[in-house]
Amino acid sequence: MKKIIFSLLLTVGAINTASAVEGNVDAGKAKAAVCGACHGATGLNPNPTYPDLAGQHAAYIAKQLADFKSGARTDMMMAPMAANLSEQDMADLAAYFSSQKRVSKKATVSDDSSATTTATASVDSAAIVTSTGAKAIYEGDVKAGQGKSAMCASCHGADGNSPIAIYPKLAGQSASYLAKQLADFKSGNRVDPVMAGMAAALSEEDMNDLATYFAVQTPTAGQAEGSDIGHKLYFGGDVNKGITACVACHGVKGKGMAQAGFPALAGQNAAYLKKQIASFRDGSRGNDRNNMMRNIAIKLSDSDIDELVNYMSSLK
Ligand code: HEC
Ligand code: HEC
Ligand code: HEC
Repeated sequence: MKKIIFSLLLTVGAINTASAVEGNVDAGKAKAAVCGACHGATGLNPNPTYPDLAGQHAAYIAKQLADFKSGARTDMMMAPMAANLSEQDMADLAAYFSSQKRVSKKATVSDDSSATTTATASVDSAAIVTSTGAKAIYEGDVKAGQGKSAMCASCHGADGNSPIAIYPKLAGQSASYLAKQLADFKSGNRVDPVMAGMAAALSEEDMNDLATYFAVQTPTAGQAEGSDIGHKLYFGGDVNKGITACVACHGVKGKGMAQAGFPALAGQNAAYLKKQIASFRDGSRGNDRNNMMRNIAIKLSDSDIDELVNYMSSLK
């Protein structure tokens, strides 16, 4: 019954009922950022495996989202997308996509391919792979990885420089580390509902290609400003509290050590770094070999973490 009232409202518009949820186009647009990876920013994607949402009935979209969430409709990719949506989110998203025009697909195709070409025109695949050593560890293929990376772009950026602070930059990260993370998301060794859905369908070859593609991209500088306190903790640790200096594994310039599996942290989004250290500290991230990061994070206070993440993000 609730669903029927709900759909009526979406078509009819503003009727005030306590249990009713009215969609807001602008709010929906903001929430649709993550959907664009597969459905296109305006709900149109030339890739035939993803349904168009532009101009679809709002009530239908909202019902599908509710069904993906409840499990009444099953899809490996949509289940994690819908899992965290509230009824309000669904109504907003439905209102947004429903308000978009179904334009000619031809235009969308050529727009998309020119964007991809520009993003990577400067990458000379063979030369760069060899010089980073990425290929020495994984037989990843940059071109193939680029082709497979389209669905990563809305969150991580076409060149791996994620525009949104809570999504990690992948550009310039070591290929072996990236490939391990994807394998960990797939196996559940590292838990994240969004990335679990992304990694589920990837083969080992896909992971290696994607990792190699992102590893050879150039990272942009971080926005945070580091303090002396952060600098000291990073280079010296804290003997009294038993905190190992980060520099030992993550390097003087925060570039990590690819061979050892220690990730680069320089220029990484601070909000993302903060979430990761907090997750190591409370144990919700536990994919670090031999508890390397958990043993350190457990000794860090909230203010230690704030100082450290700003410092690491400021490294170039
Ligand atoms: C990783 C790719 C991916 C992302 C990201 C994604 N979707 Fe989907 N979506 C799909 C696929 C694939 C289907 C088709 C599922 C099927 O075959 O049943 C689908 C189906 C749907 C449908 C059903 C359409 C229909 O005609 O039945 C809706 C509605 C939808 N998605 C909304 C969203 C919204 C809203 C978001 C963002 C919160 C989103 N999707 C994010 C891949 C994705
Ligand atoms: C809908 C948004 C979204 C999409 C699309 C997406 N990711 Fe992610 N990704 C995230 C989030 C959020 C995290 C951080 C998870 C956490 O907090 O642990 C993440 C983390 C990662 C990490 C770990 C990075 C690190 O520094 O440890 C890798 C690697 C990664 N993603 C690769 C990919 C690849 C490859 C694709 C495409 C196949 C992809 N992602 C698509 C949201 C997304
Ligand atoms: C003994 C080596 C070692 C030391 C010392 C160390 N780390 Fe790490 N760190 C690691 C390893 C290994 C990983 C990756 C674990 C994995 O495979 O997912 C990691 C991962 C991280 C990550 C997550 C990166 C990402 O992209 O998700 C952050 C943030 C981090 N370390 C911060 C720190 C800070 C801050 C310090 C100092 C207080 C520190 N680390 C000290 C080994 C170390």
